[in-house]
Amino acid sequence: NKEEQLMEVTIHHNSMILMTGDITKQETDAIVNAANGTLMGGGGVDGAIHSAAGKELVEACKQIRQNELNGDRLRTGEAVITKGYEMPAKYVIHTVGPVWSGDKEKKQTLLANCYENALKLAVDNDLASISFPSISTGVYHFPVDTAAQIAMQTIVDFLQGRSFGKVVMVLYSEKDYDTYRKALLAIVA
Ligand code: APR
Repeated sequence: NKEEQLMEVTIHHNSMILMTGDITKQETDAIVNAANGTLMGGGGVDGAIHSAAGKELVEACKQIRQNELNGDRLRTGEAVITKGYEMPAKYVIHTVGPVWSGDKEKKQTLLANCYENALKLAVDNDLASISFPSISTGVYHFPVDTAAQIAMQTIVDFLQGRSFGKVVMVLYSEKDYDTYRKALLAIVA
């Protein structure tokens, strides 16, 4: 039915891809989850990832809460890694995006932290490809144009500094795809 949108640019030997699609179907080494601090699942992309991965994912998240986080919630802007279980991606990197309210400048920094910490975790685990959803722009109400600028700048800065491999931005609507495309072109064109 709907035609898939796709755009690829090369950044310092790395591939940066924007596309429309479902992130749970991605075959990159890792996909990123826009989770909440409980790591227990939710709606939106979080719900889709937990459904596609199967019950083992929530069990792995419980272990992380207990062991790595000493029972605490995962803090906004930080990231942890689990396996992908029933999904094609080998790993899920869970991060918690900021809710768009209160100190807007602080929230922009926290959103950049999500992308940066997820990418660092991918490097630490020797991964060469990662897919991101549009973190915080659903239930958390971050304006998509601002989120797109932050996401694209953070990813481009990261790729300019090293040979990583491939970063894919998987957008769930054509409107979001257009917004991210414009933000990326403003940086690399
Ligand atoms: N593939 C790619 N993108 C998706 C998918 C999917 N299968 N499903 C939803 N999306 C898109 C949404 O359309 C939106 O553009 O992901 C983007 C992020 O939206 P949310 O999932 O609402 O994430 P966020 O705004 O970060 O809110 C996080 O939502 O359910 C909860 O547990 C989650 O509490 C947390 C909150």
